[in-house]
Amino acid sequence: MRDASADSVNDDGATATDQGDVSRSAARRSDRRHVLHPWSAHGTLQPVVVAGAAVSHLWDEDGRRWLDFSSQLVNVNVGHQHPKLIAAIKMQAEKLCTVAPYHANEATSEAARLIAELAPGDLNRVFFTNGGAEAVENAIRMARLHTGRHKILAAYRSYHGATAGAIAATGDPRRWASEPGAPAIARFWGPYPYRSAFHSADAAQECERALAHLADTIMVEGAQGIAAILLETVVGGNGILDAHGIIMIADEVMAGFGRCGEWFAVDRWKVVPDLITFAKGVNSGYVPLGGVIMSDAIAANFETRAYPGGLTYSGHPLACAAAVACIGVYKDEGLIARARLLGDEVIAPALQAMQERHPSVGDVRGLGAFWAIELVRDRATREPLVPFNASGAADAPMAEFAADCKRRGLWPFVVSNRMHIVPPLTIEEKDLREGLAIIDEALCVADRYYAGSGL
Ligand SMILES: Cc1ncc(COP(=O)(O)O)c(C=O)c1O
Repeated sequence: MRDASADSVNDDGATATDQGDVSRSAARRSDRRHVLHPWSAHGTLQPVVVAGAAVSHLWDEDGRRWLDFSSQLVNVNVGHQHPKLIAAIKMQAEKLCTVAPYHANEATSEAARLIAELAPGDLNRVFFTNGGAEAVENAIRMARLHTGRHKILAAYRSYHGATAGAIAATGDPRRWASEPGAPAIARFWGPYPYRSAFHSADAAQECERALAHLADTIMVEGAQGIAAILLETVVGGNGILDAHGIIMIADEVMAGFGRCGEWFAVDRWKVVPDLITFAKGVNSGYVPLGGVIMSDAIAANFETRAYPGGLTYSGHPLACAAAVACIGVYKDEGLIARARLLGDEVIAPALQAMQERHPSVGDVRGLGAFWAIELVRDRATREPLVPFNASGAADAPMAEFAADCKRRGLWPFVVSNRMHIVPPLTIEEKDLREGLAIIDEALCVADRYYAGSGL
């Protein structure tokens, strides 16, 4: 490894300026030359080289700092570099780094016991994966084996991961490039009061109509052939599903483990699904981990018959030790209740005030520490600030808004015409208020694109 401060040549003999890159960082040069980042065009990406992070801040090699309002990809729920997670990973590394998944070990057993204890109803057994997409793949497999049926119903405007089955189930533009994908997936519209597919007047009517639409979809798709309905959020469709023997898979990869102010988002509505997929917050992403929690009835399928699926790293000891420590931190620091408190007392009122001040804020919604503002060009027509699936020049208003946040020291989570407010659950209240004040200022950039009538 060459001196990071030398800007002459990198490990491949290319100069930094050869690559149009004025950074002196060896990490940046090697990244530009050798790393392909997810969902990105290599030539247009200028990644920040993150040098360090602590709690809700991260910084680069030049000492620029940002307040992390993204929890990275909504996974670092306990914040960056939590000492208890670091200690647990170190201890486990010294004891047992890795072992084949056909063995038992203390870390995996304890993580599974804790997760089963937290899960609702009789969801008592855990199949571990490396992340969320594999969790979805395995939940689909389990539902098919349990029901002997094949079809999966999934919602539009959903994301379930980027592996073959999970991307096929995904109901947003990220799926398009992978089509034609896995067969036997049918789609329905979920409830979305601000942009109702059912012309509903309010949230209650939206739920009613979304449920009627789901019942119609089940009817025309053939209930007897449907293995499962895969849902990112709860629509209260459990009654319908029970009647047809359809499995309910709650995809809690992002919503679970405290983000919504509950251990699992379904707890908010006292819904007990048949399968829950989890990842991200289970160990705050310190070591990759995901999984499926299954009901006793589904687990019973695999008492005498082998489960036909596996992964070399299923139940990886380092990842599971981090999960045990992470769940301990959620409990010891009261983070589940804190997520609710921060949402109710700080985030919600601040965002509502922004909606009153900034015409571009069309909608504010959320729960726990999981909030979004939706930006529009016109409140009356609800035309989004940027068109559906915008990129390049068409996406400029959102790109400028995000860039302004970063300039002011906030790392935002911006998707389409929305900003998600998803900080670590450990964020200090003064930092949370400071970040919200930055968003308030940056919204003036979005307001410049507003074309509707005033407030
Ligand atoms: C709801 C949901 N399901 C699945 C996934 C995929 O998880 P992963 O990226 O760990 O494969 C994500 C990722 O953001 C998600 O939000």
